[in-house]
Order: sequence, then structure tokens, then C-alpha cells
Amino acid sequence: MCGIVGIISTRPVSARLLEGLKRLEYRGYDSAGIAVFNGQGIKRCRAAGKIVNLQSALQESPIEGTCGIAHTRWATHGRPTRTNAHPHQTSQVAIVHNGIIENHKALREELIDQGHVFATQTDSEVIAHLIQHHLDKGLGETDAFQASIDKLEGAYAVAALIGTHSQTLYAARHGSPLVIGFGTDEMFVGSDAFALAPFTQKVLYLEEGDSAIVNIDNVTIKDKAGAPVTRDILTAKISAVMAEKGNYRHFMEKEIHEQPESLARTVAAYIDPDTHLPLLDDAGPLLQNADRLVAIACGTAFYAASVAKYWFEQYADIHVETDIASEFRYRHPALAKNGTALFISQSGETADTLAALRYCKRAGLGTIGIVNAPESSIARETNTNLHTLAGPEIGVASTKAFTAQLAVLALGAIGSAHLRKTISDDEAKAHIEALEHLPTLCKAALETEQQCASIAPTLAQASQTLFLGRGAYFPLALEGALKLKEVTYLHAEGYAAGELKHGPIALIEEGTPVVIIAPNDALIEKTISNVEEIAARGAHVIAITDKACASHFEGQARHTICLPDLPGLTGPIISAIPLQFLAYYTALKRGTNMDQPRNLAKSVTVE
Ligand code: M6R
Repeated sequence: MCGIVGIISTRPVSARLLEGLKRLEYRGYDSAGIAVFNGQGIKRCRAAGKIVNLQSALQESPIEGTCGIAHTRWATHGRPTRTNAHPHQTSQVAIVHNGIIENHKALREELIDQGHVFATQTDSEVIAHLIQHHLDKGLGETDAFQASIDKLEGAYAVAALIGTHSQTLYAARHGSPLVIGFGTDEMFVGSDAFALAPFTQKVLYLEEGDSAIVNIDNVTIKDKAGAPVTRDILTAKISAVMAEKGNYRHFMEKEIHEQPESLARTVAAYIDPDTHLPLLDDAGPLLQNADRLVAIACGTAFYAASVAKYWFEQYADIHVETDIASEFRYRHPALAKNGTALFISQSGETADTLAALRYCKRAGLGTIGIVNAPESSIARETNTNLHTLAGPEIGVASTKAFTAQLAVLALGAIGSAHLRKTISDDEAKAHIEALEHLPTLCKAALETEQQCASIAPTLAQASQTLFLGRGAYFPLALEGALKLKEVTYLHAEGYAAGELKHGPIALIEEGTPVVIIAPNDALIEKTISNVEEIAARGAHVIAITDKACASHFEGQARHTICLPDLPGLTGPIISAIPLQFLAYYTALKRGTNMDQPRNLAKSVTVE
């Protein structure tokens, strides 16, 4: 993770470095720092914790210059202290780094043997010492930078200040993204175009293995073989406006409430207004002609993929494998020759999902991105995309992006079934009509808010909560548990309801909260039997169901959260909303920071 910004300008840069950093806080918020050339050399300021702490430190001891770099950290090596905060510095060098240097121990030992003294426990500090080492050996700045980059193994995006009065930024990437921005009499480096959006929309994405020398009015790029290259300059379509909380207390709360609009936008984008059939463009043939699908993602996005497996298999009669990206990329998967791979990601920058995408491309699979950030690495590298139109999601806990992913996958499953002729025109239209009701159903589901808030104290004081579901509601149970864990720091587990008797039922004692997700479907009778079993053992049952089934839970559930009747594929999408409220209000009760939970970052750009 970690976010990087660099600016070289005719004007002072500190305030704008800080502004760029605030836009990158979604990548990590363990510590932050900046370094600038101030005419006498490199000066830096760092602080543990969020960027606001760096801002206070800079107010107390301002540093200023016209060329600088900045960093917000998500700790990988070394605790999140001020000492371990970037930039890392030697007498003539300051660097910021995103990624993991895998050979840092060996390099550190070599440098220590040669007299270098390290100040931190980070892997990144070795980059600063390597550059210094090459300068000490007599290499010029550019050669010292390149010689050092050539020695790194692992993943990195690096920006560096080198020398004493320099007006140059050095940058390199391998495995972690880096963007160069073009202004008027100024140039920028950033982890993404969003960080640079207040300063410029003119950007160039460095490619794998590129290194760049950025001067005030030009950039020189070399590829991984050391050959000079040019890269296209694009106009980023990213708004400079930062999302605001408006009248909401937290982004998570706001984003839960935005779901009627985000679902309306997303669904409308993939339905032909004339025929009322799905509109899949280039993704259509990839879904129609594939022998097999593989859906790959991490975290919440993986649970969206897991729901989609039920839909694609049931309606389009196509075998779907789902995989967690970090497992897929290393397990030598057997892939269908004529297969299509789906990559689901809010950020489009998740390192493991991106690596899995590259693996599938090498294997010759067709690739479709289901991504919320249209200019992200995954969106740019897939053959085609079915973007989710959830809008920027700021809260670390994925809410509106998850339901938008499910909506796109539902449309993809029905579209693919229609193209593969496993459902008729009329069946496809009936499904589409149901999906068109998602915004209305979502508004009705938002009305469960106060009831969920009243249940939250029970979850807040419990040592554990179980979430159960069957069929497409099983991944919802996993998602409900993940949401609760990540924003409340309480233990929760999701299980397939049919697995209860194979172990998890032993966890249930008097008062254990069990959230059962059971709107009407073909398995409802079986789920109700499971509820009876756990209620008989003292569980505090919270049923999320619909009007058709609410009466089945009488006498068994302490709380019945009743959703409207949920036609077609809408059930798992709408059932997510009370799960999000339960997590949000439990976090509120416990006083945790649900928008920036401890140890997490919005975008997981290291494996
Ligand atoms: O940006 P991505 O969708 O690829 O991120 C995947 C996961 O890191 C993400 O869903 C994570 O699990 C969320 N914090 C869940 O709320």
C-alpha cells in the first residue's frame, strides 16, 4: 500500500504535497512525511498516525522548497512509528517507496558491512542507502539512481530526491503503480491520477520496469531494458473534488445510503432501454463463448464473485470457479483453453488481483474487469470492462461497491444466459425487470436502519457473532461477518447453514448472536430447520428475511428484519443492506473508526 506524491515547480510545494497526500490516505494512514530541497539540502518532516498529524508538525516547524516528495504509509516492515515513517534519508538522498523490497535484508547487510548506519526497521530505507552508496562511489545522480533500482527485487514505486541543490525528481516502478503529471512550469509524480487531480489532468502511466527523470518541464523515461521510450500522455477523467460526508457522520453511513442511486446508475448502464435485455458490449462474446469462467477477487469483492457463481451456473449453465486472488496466482491453476476470467475489484489496484489478471493473460484467457475505478491498473489491463458505477467509495468497508458489483454480475449472468440460450427472451426480460426494481427495493431496505441500530448493542457486547446462509446467501453470511470484524474488531464467522452440524454448532451457547440471512428461496424450509436447531440451543437469532417468510421465524428469532419481497436475483443484493447497518451501528456503539479501521487500508497494493 502506501501513497506517493512528488512535485517539482517554480512555486513552493509543501502545501500541495500535503493536499496530494490527503487524497492518498485511502492507501494507508499509519504515518506520513514530506521532504523538500530548501536551498541548503534536503529537509524533512514526519509524523506517526494520520496525515493531520503531519499537518500539525509542519505548522510547528514549516519546511519549504520548490521540489519535494511525500508519503503516507501502511506499515509492512517495522512498526508505524515516526522513525519508520518515509521519506528515508541519507546525507544526499531522500526516498519514498510503495511496495516491498524482497531482498532488503541481503542489501542491508552488504551496506552495513560498508559502513552505512540504518535508522529504521523498514525494507524501504535500503533504497536511500543504496543510492548514497553509488554516489559515494562517484556515480552521477542519474546513474546512482538507476544502479540502485537495478539491484531491487520485489515490488516498488519509488520517488527520490538526490543531491544538494537539485531540481530533479527520480522515479521508478515495478509492480506498484506510478503516474507522471504534466502542469504549467511544474511536473508531478503520484501513486495515482486521483492524487494529482487538483493539479493536473494530463498524465502518463509508467509501465512495468520504467524509470523516469522528471525535470520542471520534461520527463525522460527508460524501459526495463534501459532503452529510452515515450509513453502516451492521457487526459485523466478524474474529478478533483474530494468526496465529502455531507450531513452524514461517517462515509460508511453515507455510502450505505447512496445505494439506491449507485444501483440505479449501474443497472441502467447495462440494460438496453428498447429491448429491456442486458447490454454487455465486448464482454458479451467473452461470456457467451467461454467453456468455463473463473472469477477472481479479494475480500468483499471475492464474496461478490462467490454469489455470481450461483447465478452463472444456475442460469447460464456455465461452470464457474471462484478464487481468492492471493491463492489463485500461486497455485498453478488448471485453466480452460477457451476460458474467460472475471476480475472484481473496487479499487482496480489490488496487487494480488492484478497479478492474477496478468497470469490469466499470459495463459491466453479472455479477461473482463468489474471495477469501480475506471482508470485503475486492472481496468486498463483487462480486455474489456463492465464498470460498476458506484462512484468514489471512501470508507474502508466496502458497501455500495459490493452491491454494485453484485448488480453487474447479476446482469452479466442473465445476459450470458440469454446469449447462451439457456433462458428465453421472456425469462431474461422478467429478470431484468426485477433488477430494474433494485433502487426501489434498496430504499425499502434502508428503512431497516433503526431496527438494525437497536440490535447493535447486542452484537457490541457479544464475544462472537455467527452469520449463516444457504445458496447465494452463504457468501452474504461471509460478507456480513467480514463487515462486522473489520469495523468493530469483534470476532465473527460466516458459515453455510448446512455446515452447522459439522462443527460450528458447538460455538453456540446461551445468548450467542446468530444472524441468519434467509429471504424466500428454494432452500427456505431447510434454513428454518437450522434456525430451530440453534434457537433450541439458546442462540439469540436475528433473522434477515422478507415478507413472504417472516412468519416462519416467529417464536424462533428474537429479531426479524423484514425486507420487501425480493424477486429474481435481487435477494442477495438487497440483503447486504441490513448487514451493513448491523456492522455500522455496532461500530458506532463501540466507538471504533469505521471509516479508517486500524491496520486496514482502502486499497491493498502490496501482496
Ligand atoms: O479494491 P478491491 O475491491 O480489490 O479490494 C478488495 C478487498 O481488499 C476489499 O473488498 C476489503 O475486503 C474491504 N475492506 C471489505 O470491506
